[in-house]
Formats: sequence, C-alpha cells, structure tokens
Amino acid sequence: MITIVVAMGLDNEIGADNQLLWHLPKDLKHFKEMTTDHPIIMGRKTYESIGKALPDRTNIVVSRKKDWFEEGILIVGSVKEAVKFAKKIDEQVFIIGGGNIYEQTLDLTDKLEVTLVQTNLEADTFFPKIDPKIWNKIEEVCHEKDEKNEFDFCFQTYERKVKLAEK
Ligand SMILES: NC(=O)c1ccc[n+]([C@@H]2O[C@H](COP(=O)([O-])OP(=O)(O)OC[C@H]3O[C@@H](n4cnc5c(N)ncnc54)[C@H](OP(=O)(O)O)[C@@H]3O)[C@@H](O)[C@H]2O)c1
Repeated sequence: MITIVVAMGLDNEIGADNQLLWHLPKDLKHFKEMTTDHPIIMGRKTYESIGKALPDRTNIVVSRKKDWFEEGILIVGSVKEAVKFAKKIDEQVFIIGGGNIYEQTLDLTDKLEVTLVQTNLEADTFFPKIDPKIWNKIEEVCHEKDEKNEFDFCFQTYERKVKLAEK
C-alpha cells in the first residue's frame, strides 16, 4: 500500500519559500501517528525544509545530487528506486512530499491522507488536482481552530476507485 500524506489549502497550496504555510500541531501529531514505524519518501527540498531525519521511520530522500551524504537518511537517485526500496522494508509506504514528488507519485498511489486546511494562502508549491473520477473520499473528520491550531481543517481519506494492478 502506497499512501500520500499531504496538508493543503483550498487552492491545493502546500508550501512557499520551502516552508509549510501554517502551524497546526494537531496535524503534525496525526502525521506522526500515521507514519511512525513505516518508511517515508520525500524530495530533497522537503528534507531540507524539515531539516533533519524524522525519528522512528526510515527516511528515504530522492535527489539527483551526487556525493551528498546526510546522517540518518537514505538517499536515492529516483522515485522508482525509492518506492522499490521502501516496499522491501514494509508493506505500508508513505510519500510525504513535496509538490514535485507528489506529481510523480500520484499515479502509483493507492490512498491519500489529506488534511484540508480551510484557507487560501499565497504559495509557490501545489498538490495536483484530486480527480473525482479516480478518487473516492471515504472518510472526513473536521476540527475547528483553537488557541494552538490557527485554521479549521478536515482529515480526509481518499481511495482509488479502480485499484492499481500489482506491480
Ligand atoms: N503541506 C504539505 O503537506 C507539504 C509536505 C511536504 C512538503 N511541503 C512543501 O513543499 C515544498 C517543497 O516541494 P518541492 O516541490 O519544491 O520539492 P520536493 O518535491 O520536496 O523536492 C524536489 C527535489 O527532489 C529531487 N527529485 C525530484 N524528482 C526526482 C527524480 N525523479 N529523481 C531524482 N531526484 C528527484 C530533486 O532534488 P535535487 O535538486 O537534490 O536533485 C528535486 O529538486 C516546501 O514548501 C515544503 O514545505 C508541503
């Protein structure tokens, strides 16, 4: 099972200046609960934006850079290699961004775990359109903003209408 995890605004915006657009501790907790103990795949820019390897998960970072080494992460030269390696470690693989990697992996993905943040913000990075002909929303749980979480948001789960053939 390959699952994309993404937090996006109402215009599919996900980031600006290599940063996230909001501070939502409830979303970070949800992300941690879902991904802990599973391999996570990310682009080099997302890794640099996080600034460190996330604990208790195999961090697989995709980059074309040669001779690049960082403590605690596995660097691979292609998305295909990242997925192949992650699948060897665990049946459940998470793709955690950013925009460039989401675009290349949406067609390989079985499930989307979306946090839909109820706002529109200036951004330079976006999630691809979720095509309702392909994706079925099977669950939605909404939360109101509070003193620590600056926007209302909904956790949404999407499944593919037509399952991917075994690769
Ligand atoms: N809201 C969310 O849920 C969320 C989640 C994650 C990230 N983000 C945001 O998204 C933004 C970053 O996204 P981004 O699209 O700019 O970058 P990205 O997808 O994180 O990383 C792009 C980099 O990945 C490498 N790469 C991509 N495709 C490759 C391929 N086929 N083979 C080898 N390497 C490949 C390249 O690294 P090299 O240049 O090293 O070759 C490329 O520059 C930030 O603003 C971040 O905060 C948001």
